[in-house]
Amino acid sequence: MARHIVARTSDIPPGGNKVFGVDGRDIVVFHVNGEFFALLNRCPHEGAPLEKAACVARLTSPEPGIYQRSRVGELLRCPWHGWEFDMRNGQSFFDPKRVKVRSYPVAVESGEELQKGPYVAETFPVHVEDSYVIIET
Ligand code: FES
Repeated sequence: MARHIVARTSDIPPGGNKVFGVDGRDIVVFHVNGEFFALLNRCPHEGAPLEKAACVARLTSPEPGIYQRSRVGELLRCPWHGWEFDMRNGQSFFDPKRVKVRSYPVAVESGEELQKGPYVAETFPVHVEDSYVIIET
C-alpha cells in the first residue's frame, strides 16, 4: 500500500474537509472531533460528491419520546438523496452488508517522523587530538 502525504493537519479545519487527487481518485478527508477520516469522494448510489455531505450525529431512541445523540459529526448524509454512511468505515446504515463507500486508512505523523525515512547513512566517531592557536588580523 503506497503512502501519500496530502496535507498538514492545519490545512483541514475541525469540522471541515478537503479533497485530494490520489492515484487518479478523488479522496475526501474529514476532520471530526480531532480525528481524520478518508473516503472516496463519490456516493455509491448515484455518485454525489461526499465533500458536500452533511456531517451529522447518530440519533437513537431507546423509548418513545426519548432521543439520544452520539458520535456527533461522524455520520455523512449524502447531499443528493440523503443516504447515510459511517465516516469510520464507509458503511451505509440502511444496508450495511451490501452498500458502502470505500474508506482509506489515515495516519497523522510529525514532520520529523516523515523526514527520517528508512535510509540512514553509516556514521563514524570523530576525535580531536590536538589544538591550534588561531589569530585573526
Ligand atoms: S447519490 Fe448519494 S444518496 Fe443518491
